[in-house]
This record gives sequence, C-alpha cells and structure tokens, in this order.
Amino acid sequence: MKNNEAPKKIYLKDYREPSYWIKKTTLDVQIYDGHTDVTATLLLERNANDESRKLSLDGDSLELRGLTLDGKKLDDTQYVLDAEHLTLENLSDQHELIIETRIYPETNTSLEGLYKSRLIYCTQCEAEGFRKITYYLDRPDVMSEFTTRITADKTRCPILLSNGNKIDEGECANDRHFAVWHDPHLKPAYLFALVAGELSLLEDRFTTCSGRDVLLQIWVEEKDLDKCAHAMDSLKRSMAWDEQRYGREYDLDIFMIVAVDDFNMGAMENKGLNIFNTSCVLAKKETTTDAEFQRVEGVVAHEYFHNWSGNRVTCRDWFQLSLKEGFTVFRDAQFSSDMGSATVKRVEDVLLLRAAQFAEDAGPMAHPVQPDAFIEISNFYTLTIYEKGAEVVRMLHTLLGETLFRKGSDLYFERHDGQAVTIDDFVRAMEEVSGRDLSQFKRWYKQAGTPELEVSSEYIEASEEYVLQFKQRCRPTVECKEKQPFVIPVDLSLLGDAGKLPLNLKDQLDPERSDNTRMVIELTEAEERFVFTGVKELPAPALLRGFSAPVKLRYRYTDEQLLRILKLEDDGFCRWDAAQQLMIREIDRIREALVADPSPAISPALVDALTAVLADDSLDPAMVSLMLTVPSEKYLNELGEQVEVEATHHARQLLERKLAKALAEPLLQCYELMRARQAAKPYSVVAADVAERALQNTALHLLSILGDEKSLALVQQQFAEADNMTDELAAFKALVHSTRSRFDSAKTDAIQRFYTKWQAEALVVNHWFSVQASSPAPDVLEQVKALMTHPAFDMKNPNKLRALIGAFCNNVTGFHNANGLGYAFLGDRIIELNRSNPQIAARLLTPLTKWRRYDEKRQEKMKAQLERIQSEPNLSKDVFEVVSKSLELS
Ligand code: TRP
Ligand code: ZN
Repeated sequence: MKNNEAPKKIYLKDYREPSYWIKKTTLDVQIYDGHTDVTATLLLERNANDESRKLSLDGDSLELRGLTLDGKKLDDTQYVLDAEHLTLENLSDQHELIIETRIYPETNTSLEGLYKSRLIYCTQCEAEGFRKITYYLDRPDVMSEFTTRITADKTRCPILLSNGNKIDEGECANDRHFAVWHDPHLKPAYLFALVAGELSLLEDRFTTCSGRDVLLQIWVEEKDLDKCAHAMDSLKRSMAWDEQRYGREYDLDIFMIVAVDDFNMGAMENKGLNIFNTSCVLAKKETTTDAEFQRVEGVVAHEYFHNWSGNRVTCRDWFQLSLKEGFTVFRDAQFSSDMGSATVKRVEDVLLLRAAQFAEDAGPMAHPVQPDAFIEISNFYTLTIYEKGAEVVRMLHTLLGETLFRKGSDLYFERHDGQAVTIDDFVRAMEEVSGRDLSQFKRWYKQAGTPELEVSSEYIEASEEYVLQFKQRCRPTVECKEKQPFVIPVDLSLLGDAGKLPLNLKDQLDPERSDNTRMVIELTEAEERFVFTGVKELPAPALLRGFSAPVKLRYRYTDEQLLRILKLEDDGFCRWDAAQQLMIREIDRIREALVADPSPAISPALVDALTAVLADDSLDPAMVSLMLTVPSEKYLNELGEQVEVEATHHARQLLERKLAKALAEPLLQCYELMRARQAAKPYSVVAADVAERALQNTALHLLSILGDEKSLALVQQQFAEADNMTDELAAFKALVHSTRSRFDSAKTDAIQRFYTKWQAEALVVNHWFSVQASSPAPDVLEQVKALMTHPAFDMKNPNKLRALIGAFCNNVTGFHNANGLGYAFLGDRIIELNRSNPQIAARLLTPLTKWRRYDEKRQEKMKAQLERIQSEPNLSKDVFEVVSKSLELS
C-alpha cells in the first residue's frame, strides 16, 4: 500500500462490464538472465454497451518501455500512468495496442506473475497476477485468444511451454531458441501460463470417449522423474471419470502438468498447462505418505475438472469464485469417494469443515460463499469458498437427486460454454431442470456463519408418535445481522433396540427420496415439527446422516443412544460421529473431575464400545482407525465459547492415556495383525491397504503413549524397518512427540537419522520440520527458532514456511504459551513476509485473527501483535485487510 492510505474495497454491486474487449492477445516474451522483456499486442474492440471510449489497463510492478497505438508510438502526454493503471482516452471502436514492458522474474518473491522457482521460470496469474506481466484488462470476463512466443537461452531453458498447441519453434542467434504456442480456446488472463527451464518428461496418452488421442505430459526436475507415475494414473482416471459422471470430454490434443517447488497454493488449472506445487504431484512409497498419495490424486483431479468447471465456463468476476471452486471441490470429492472409501472421504471432509471452516465462519474473516466486498481477492481463497461452497453444491445434489443434478450440470455446461457467468446462472440451471424454486436455498450463498440446528424430541407412547422439533439460528455476521432461515436437508433414521424403525410422517411422505427407514427432511423455517407415526419404541434418532448439511447439530443424546447409533446405524459418518461425541463427553467430564482428582476414571461403557469396534471385522479398518482417534485439540477448542488452552490439552491427553491403557491388549493384537497383513503383500495405495496402515499407525500412536519399554521397542522397530513413508513418519512422530523421558535418547537419535537419510528430498524434509514444530515439548518455540537457521530452511519457499512456521502456529500449546512469545514470533515473521510474499503472510496470520476466543491475558498479547503489524509502513493489501478486519469492533 502506498503512503499508508487505506486501500479501497471492491463491491459486487459495483460490477460493470469492461469498456473494451480484447479479441486477440499476442505475447512475445524474451527471457534473459536477470530480466524479461514482454511485448503484448492487443486487438481491442469497444464494448457496444459502453460509451466511455476509455481504456484503463491494470498493471503492477511493471516497467513501461513503449506504447504503440495503431502503428504510432505514443509519448507520455498521450496516456496516464499511475501505480496500478495505464489509461488511454478518446479511443475509437477498434485498435491495435502494442505494449512493451520489462519485468524481473529473478527477484519476484511474491510468486505471482512471472517468477523463478529454483531454475525454472513459471507463472501464476490467478487471481490478479497477469498484471505483473503486462498491462491488461486483468478480469475474468475479458476472454481472449492467446498466442505466445517465448525466446530464451537454449542451454538454460531447453523447454518452453505455454497454453494450447505448439505451432512453431526454432533457433535464434546467440544460442537462443523460441517456441510459439497458440490456444484456440478463449480464456481470461488468469488462466494464462508460461514455463521455461530444464525439465524432464513423463509421457502417456489418453483416448477420449469420442476417440480422440490426447498426449499427456508431466514435466519435473530430473531428480523427481521417478515420482510421477501416481499423478499420471490419477490424471487418466480423472479424465475417464469426468466423461462417465459428467459427460465432459477433454478439448485439446495435449494436456501438461509442470511441478515447481515454490508455489503459493496447491496447484493451478491454467488451460492445457496446469502448474503444480511439487507437494501435489510427486509421490513414491519411500518418500510419500498415504495421505499425500491421496492428496496428489485429489488435486490432479481438481485441476483437471476445472477444465470444464472454471475454464470452459468461467467466472464473471471474483465474487463468483465459488462458482468454480465450490463446484470443483464437490466434483473432486465425488471422484475421491468413487476411487476409495466414500465414508472415509466424507469423515475427512467433515473433520476439515468442523475444525477449520466453522472457525473461519465464527471469526473476523467470516464471509458468505458469495462475498459482497473485498480488498484483496487473494484473501478469499478460503475454506468457506472451497469447502463450504462444495457443501452447498452437495446439498443441491441431495435436494435434486443424482439424475436431476446431472441434468442441471449438463444444462449449465451447454448453455454457458465459452462464457463468464455467475453463481445465479448455476443455480438457475438447477432450478430449470427440477422445476424447483431455489430462491430460499440461495441464502446459503449470501449469509455467512454456521447455522446451529437445535433438535429436541418427544415420544408419546400411547399414540406411538415420535416428535422431532427443529430450531435453526445463525449468529449475526458483518454483512447480515438478521439471518433468514436456511433450507436445511436433514437425512435421518430412527433406531430401535434391534435396528432401524420404519418411517411414516404424519402428513405425507415423499416417495422419491425416502425409502422405508431413511428420509431427507427439508427444513425451511426457523422452527419446525415433524411427527412420525407407528413408532413402537423410544428410538435413538440418527440425524444428519452423511453430514447432510454444514450445520452445528445440537441434540441431547443420552450415552445409551450414542452407543446404539455406534452399534446399529449403517451410515458410517453417524457411527463415527457418535464415537466422537462420546469422547468429547468424556473429555468434558475429565476436565471437570481434574479439579478435585488428578486421575479421574473413564467410563467403562466407552471402553467397551471401543473394544467392540476394535474387534469388529466387518468394519473397514480405516473407520476403526478414525473411531479410535480422539478429537483434535483444534476441534475441541471450537466447541466452547472460550478456548481453555491448558485444561483442554490436559483432559484430552488424559483420555488418550487412559484409553491406551484400557485397550492396550487388543491394540497390540490389532497392531500386529495389520503389520502381518501388510508384510504378506507388496506395498500398494489401494484403499484397503491404506486402511490397514491407518489402523496400524493409530494403534502404534496409542501404544506409544503407554511409554513403557515394550512400546518404545515397538516404535523403534517400526522406525528402523519401515519401507514406506507412512509407517516411517508415524514412528518418527511417535518418537518425537512422546512426553516420556524414556524416549529421550531415541528421539534425539531419530531426529538426526531422519534428516541424514532424507536431506536430498525436500518434501520429506518438510515433514521433518513440521513434526518437530508440532511437538508438545515446552521448549518447542526455541527449537523452531533454531530450525529457522538450519540450512534446509528457506524463508522464500512457501512449503517450508507452512511446514515450520505454519505447523508451529497451529500447535495449540506451543503457539498459545501464556508467555506470549509465540505471538511475538509470528508477529516478526509476518512483518518480514509482508515484504517478500504478501499472500503467504496473510495466510500465516490466521491463528492470530482468532484472538477474541482466548482469555483476557492472551487476548491482550495477541492483539498487541496485530496492532504492531498494523502500524508497519508499506503494508500489503493482503496483510492490511486481514489485520484490520481482525481488529475491527464486532
Ligand atoms: N485455482 C487454484 C485452485 O483452486 C487456486 C490457486 C492456485 C491460487 N494458485 C493460486 C489462488 C494463487 C490464488 C493465488 O485450483
Ligand atoms: Zn480450484
């Protein structure tokens, strides 16, 4: 921000069409060592709906070196140049404008625009990075036909890539060469990409449903060529899946993925040339955990699916971001459920939503899925836009059913192909195919905050009636003080003593969406009552099956009811959630009992239930693993009004200890069984094997808490023998996070060995950083500070920052140490990063934004850091927006 004047807010209500269209964009990019010269030739055509005849192009950090309008050089009296715009007035209907700029990718640390990641030149243009390459109408509703000529040194940059098809290449003087790429599809500038460098190639082919042959390429640094097979398989599966599930075929003859080390996010869907963070492409068993294998598959699919939901049909403006992101996350979640276990995928998504999106919705950065104002759009690539946006699409799918939803998506893609559209256009397609009025449903897009759904029940034995009473409310948020009721689909069953009870609603039953023992009720009012008839016994209601709506459910279950759901419900999410709720209750009880008794007993019913879960061979081992996992501190801290840092930590730790002790024997048996099963077959990442390793390592974690000689030996053995990163990292974590002095020397030894073994693998070294940064050790901050001086650490690399600083700031007891030193540490880092990489600075700031949830002393210290950051000169828009919203009076 220049001169500390407050940057201005952009409003959805101010949307206007652009004054000109850019019919063709021809780029000539000359890469030299130290600088790059860009010549952009724009074919402009006046928008018939705009009479201003004024063209205001966006630009950021550009050196303007020449401007030619219709063949005539312009001098500086013929245009206006300020820090963010290049403006021309009194224009005609059509022009050719040639813009020459010089940029400096070698010193571009923001990782937006053209920059250098190690030895590779690459671009990141979403959301507003293209304006760092040339002056342009850098907005998604300006769609253009791109031709890109890249020239660079032959030795340093043998590979030259851009969107679309290569139409020419050849030699130049001075050991330079060029390539020309042409993209036949119109696209906004945020989907532009360019790559130049020395890259190695994994190649494959895919035949589309209409029989077209597509060349698939994955470009990486040579050392990583052995880690590309999984991404390639994932890509082929994604292409086939999108044809089958959505009828969407790929539309170019070539599809490329490039992996770079320095990347602000996971990956980017540039047309025909996706650019990925190496962390979302590379995978092989020795270096990659199962969770990471699944992430690679999910991100490859996500970016590929954007080719339709995002590229062929794009966003009119950035307020519509969830149009592409929410829908694409929904699509990649469907894909992942189809590839592996649907229940496990659902539980993982709910975990993220509850622990992080609900917190965002409850904090100062809360915003609707369709925001109505922003200062810096980069700050809105949030869990709300992505994850909650996907939940909203999922609810549409639930309300319409698969057949109508597919009809709706077909209509949306066909009607809007080649257009830049809005969320309303998407919902309208769903309305038209279903004949439903979705105007009330659209409140999910407009009202921020997580709805709370309070449910009470009454059983009237005499009339065999069961009444469910629903009350919804949603806390006020900045954009909307008084919330109107949401449409909430509640998928439910009633469980009797021996299983599911038949469901008969007193008034009517929608035969389309409910079978006998389950139905989806649609809440539309603040308070509603449903009466079930013919209910012969007092049931346990299984509510929100499959987590049918992103709400906080409150129902006073008895322990007995939860145990019944855990035993009898066929919906895996509900069973898992029942186990979670039982554990949360136990933690609450322990927290209260701890006041008087340092070692309170835990309830035998919970131990019995979990013993039964462990013994149940009919259960997916991945589900057993999830059910045995005690809720995270992050989620527990979400539940109360004020975060009780130490009390929650201790109560949680105590529950884990007591469970480990009570379940020691079956856990050990289970551990050995899973190990034996794994040993009997070659390593694979199919869901069944991933599940076995998950259970094995959850058992190992609990056993390590026992802290005896035997468990230490077990952990050390797994650490030494592991032939895959899932097992190796689980053992490493168990050693490093142990609070037992018996583990001390093994821990020190493991930290050294792990680094020595993996120092050449950057992604594994990131684990090495993050495991240490998330340690419960009281001196963790000192360790983190020491690690910042380690040669493998790099303040310019976002993966490293996330691994060390991000992990530490999400380490509840470490970061929130009452001495406040964690806060000051983050304050220092933000001030540094504000200069080098504002996007990452603003993201890492998140834990400080939640200051209002803590006790007074912590509040004061957290707020002091926010104020200190706020008073910095030259705050980026990114950091300014997050800090000022956090400090605003609520
Ligand atoms: N569109 C990308 C995705 O979700 C997100 C993205 C990648 C991004 N890099 C970015 C957003 C940089 C903002 C800034 O797949
Ligand atoms: Zn996306």
